[in-house]
Amino acid sequence: MSIEMEEKKELFFSVEAGNSLPAASEAARATVAGWLRAPRASRAELFARADAVRRARMGDAVPLRGIIEFSNRCASDCAYCGIRRSNRALRRYTMPPDEILDVARRMAGWGQMTVVLQSGETPSREGDRELGELIRRIKRETPLAVTLSVGNRPRDVYAYWRECGMDRYLLRFETADPELYRRLHEGGDLEERLECLRTLRALGVQVGSGFMIGLPGETHEALADNILLCRKLDLDMIGVGPFIPNPETPMADARNAWADDPEMFFVALAALRLACPDAHIPATTAYDAVFPGEGRDLALRRGANVFMPNSTPGKYRRDYQLYPNKPCVDEDAGQCSACVLLRLKAIGREPAAGPGHSLKTRGARGEK
Ligand code: 5AD
Ligand code: FES
Repeated sequence: MSIEMEEKKELFFSVEAGNSLPAASEAARATVAGWLRAPRASRAELFARADAVRRARMGDAVPLRGIIEFSNRCASDCAYCGIRRSNRALRRYTMPPDEILDVARRMAGWGQMTVVLQSGETPSREGDRELGELIRRIKRETPLAVTLSVGNRPRDVYAYWRECGMDRYLLRFETADPELYRRLHEGGDLEERLECLRTLRALGVQVGSGFMIGLPGETHEALADNILLCRKLDLDMIGVGPFIPNPETPMADARNAWADDPEMFFVALAALRLACPDAHIPATTAYDAVFPGEGRDLALRRGANVFMPNSTPGKYRRDYQLYPNKPCVDEDAGQCSACVLLRLKAIGREPAAGPGHSLKTRGARGEK
């Protein structure tokens, strides 16, 4: 074996179960970038390694988190996002609380033990209170864990929702590059977003974050930095997915940095699993947009362990397209719930019985 090959092998297998990354950030960066640069011929090995770590740490049971995209109203104008406030090409909606609760009541019967409530960013006193009341009702009337994903908010609002029973929160940092973050978010500050994550953590909320893969100009090192920021934040959940240029946004003509090699989206996922072995990592919907009919299944076999079925009522789905080619826009919640079970079965996995709380005890309130 040549020295070069020895070195590559070393790089691959030095991370036995993912937790032996060198501490020094430069060395860690070089290691992760090395995985990302692995020659195509060795990707199958990287995927197999990620799958083995996923199985050893998270098991074969797949927690199902049904997502209800309950409002597409948004006060923000993120450059990549289809529901940004400047987009006039969609009908704005907010689901009435009773309709949300109606779906939530059916979810446990579908094996979905967590409800994820996601919307655009629409801060308002009245809306915050309404959401708090909804959390209380869901916690009272269903066995579900409740995850919110509604953007940057002040500490008192997060604390109030926590009091109401919120278990988890999703808020992606999108990119670890502060300058790029600023350009994408109307001059917004990455540090402010990271502070939101720290606040949530301090409140005992299980915290999920993540990033888009392949924002324009992304290098292997930049991607490694995104992965290492996830590791540094010691996240309970990590959601990543390919950046998909949306024609209704200023990034319509942007190109995904890995457009010529879309398998890189899985390479990134596998590297993420090796770097963060104990995190819940969903097979996100964007993988299905790039690889129709199989993206999420492949993700589950290359490092991911969670599935987030779309449980938004069918009539709203066309108006919640953050990116084009989103799957399931013609389906309804019941159809996706059945489809998911078939998909899992086909790859030899099963839905988890419980809510799939964080393996890191923090915030799990003793539940498993
Ligand atoms: N392509 C891929 N992902 C996107 N998101 C928003 N717009 C896009 C896009 N054009 C992701 C962001 C956000 C999550 C809800 O959806 O990462 O945090
Ligand atoms: Fe929605 Fe398959 S997951 S139809």
